[in-house]
Amino acid sequence: MYEKKDHYHKEAKLQGYRARSAYKLQQINNKFKIIKKGTTVVDIGAAPGGWSQVASELVGPEGRVISVDILEMKPLANKNITILQGDITDEKTVDLILSTAGNVGCVISDIAPKTTGIVDLDRSRSAILSMQSLEIARGTLKTGGNFLTKVFQSQESEELFMDIKNSFGYSKRFRPPSTRKRSAEIYFIGKGFHHETDETAAESLPES
Ligand SMILES: C[S@@+](CC[C@H](N)C(=O)[O-])C[C@H]1O[C@@H](n2cnc3c(N)ncnc32)[C@H](O)[C@@H]1O
Repeated sequence: MYEKKDHYHKEAKLQGYRARSAYKLQQINNKFKIIKKGTTVVDIGAAPGGWSQVASELVGPEGRVISVDILEMKPLANKNITILQGDITDEKTVDLILSTAGNVGCVISDIAPKTTGIVDLDRSRSAILSMQSLEIARGTLKTGGNFLTKVFQSQESEELFMDIKNSFGYSKRFRPPSTRKRSAEIYFIGKGFHHETDETAAESLPES
């Protein structure tokens, strides 16, 4: 386990990535192709910036990355990255994201709560933050857009997965090879955003 940790850690240092998690995004994107050249990506829970660096390379100079974190994130050299600071559970932050990002092709969220060691509490907080990431995705993504979020596995995370299923044409659970073996985290992928399922649309139709 330590060998693996050292390998990704060392690689990240060598390649100038700010976090070893950069490799998770690379592995996820190699498999699911969620980030396309020239698109706008919103990166939620972005500090210290490993995912933003990878996303910036994937979208290229024609694309944009909007990086959001509650913590201050040190500026990156990549010209296509805009950094926003704020708590995503605060409406002001959501408004800031909405006013900064237009025509969003992909929302990625590696968000994680400060862990307390109380397993149920940490899992529940993780699910709340990831659900909020999904809400932001629903509010910003263009039709056909993609979504990725990390979450600690729990009963609540399964509800989140069902919500993703309802909003995207394709959905999948995935644990990248670089995830530490003992970690409870999993990644959920949604591809092909649509605003309503037929069922929801039918429910909202007036009765005849
Ligand atoms: C695992 S780290 C993300 C690492 C990042 N993907 C990278 O590659 O550098 C999770 C981040 O979520 C952020 N976070 C936690 N709660 C948040 C909230 N309510 N609003 C915004 N960011 C939050 C934390 O500050 C932390 O930087």
